[in-house]
Amino acid sequence: MLTGGGDAPGTNAVIRGIVRKGLKKYGDEFIGIRDGWRGLLEAEFTVLDQEAITAILTRGGSILGFSRTNPFKSEKGVERILRNMEESGMEAIIAIGGDDTLGVACKLGEFGVKCVGVPKTIDNDLSGTDYTFGFNTAVSIATEALDRLRSTAEAHQRVIILEVMGRNAGWIALESGLAGGADVILIPEKPFDVVEICEYISQRQKRGRNFSVVVVSEGARPLGGKEITYSDGVDAFGNARLGGVGIYLGKEIEKRISTETRVVILGHIQRGGTPTAFDRVLGTRFGLAAVDFLHEGRFGCLVGIQGTLIVPVALEKIVGKRKIVSPDLYEIASIFFG
Ligand code: F6P
Repeated sequence: MLTGGGDAPGTNAVIRGIVRKGLKKYGDEFIGIRDGWRGLLEAEFTVLDQEAITAILTRGGSILGFSRTNPFKSEKGVERILRNMEESGMEAIIAIGGDDTLGVACKLGEFGVKCVGVPKTIDNDLSGTDYTFGFNTAVSIATEALDRLRSTAEAHQRVIILEVMGRNAGWIALESGLAGGADVILIPEKPFDVVEICEYISQRQKRGRNFSVVVVSEGARPLGGKEITYSDGVDAFGNARLGGVGIYLGKEIEKRISTETRVVILGHIQRGGTPTAFDRVLGTRFGLAAVDFLHEGRFGCLVGIQGTLIVPVALEKIVGKRKIVSPDLYEIASIFFG
């Protein structure tokens, strides 16, 4: 199995679930692939036995490591994967990842590689599953940050902007913003208008609320403008490195209204550390189901959760189709703006 993309709390719960059930129910043998698809290209493997998974349930990160390596961008990538799989006696792969990692798994299926996918991303933007593991932890951390920022914003009568992750979808901003009572929530799905944001802040000031807390997804962009990037260039999957929309917004607000503004970029704090109980349970359920999928021959499938049920979802139906926040849901959240 391998873990690809950016890390998400709950990854080790998935690995533990897979290994425990595979050993106990099916007598499987597992090979851990180091750092996502990179380890399969380089034949960097590790033993995944009972000993390897001891005491990992509560740990953040992944005992296997992560990378954003794209084998389809590497020289003779598929050839090397097929050779390394054969030489190591690997019969199938459980790919734990987001859209990029699962896209590779889906494409490898065309070359006869048997893959089962597990949905991982704190962004929660994978289609075919209501939740990805890691999202709940990220929302909890962002909510706590908002609670803390609210009291200091109030004490100093400031606007405080919290920038959270969410490249293509605003799920973290939306849910933490609702849970933390944010006064404005900005997401990639709906370009924002700085004038409108300033009106919300002014409306609050007229009610004697001389402070505001704004939560913004890193992928949000101003009306008619572009996403704000931290640096030039893209990764092996074509993703830009986002960051800084909060700072842009803070400056624009200060230009228009005479209220001191501060910006906090939550960054990788929302991805690190121990998973919530929800993510430990979800990750465990995904891991247990992934082993069953292998033995049922459900290759090319994602282990999804819909409602309370674990369901198989064809990877080819969901890769490249992000699950984004619907206008209806954003409309509901906007009742609380201002
Ligand atoms: O893909 C998930 C994600 O958390 C995005 O929201 C974010 O843009 C990205 O990872 C950042 O990843 P890194 O800085 O680790 O490359």
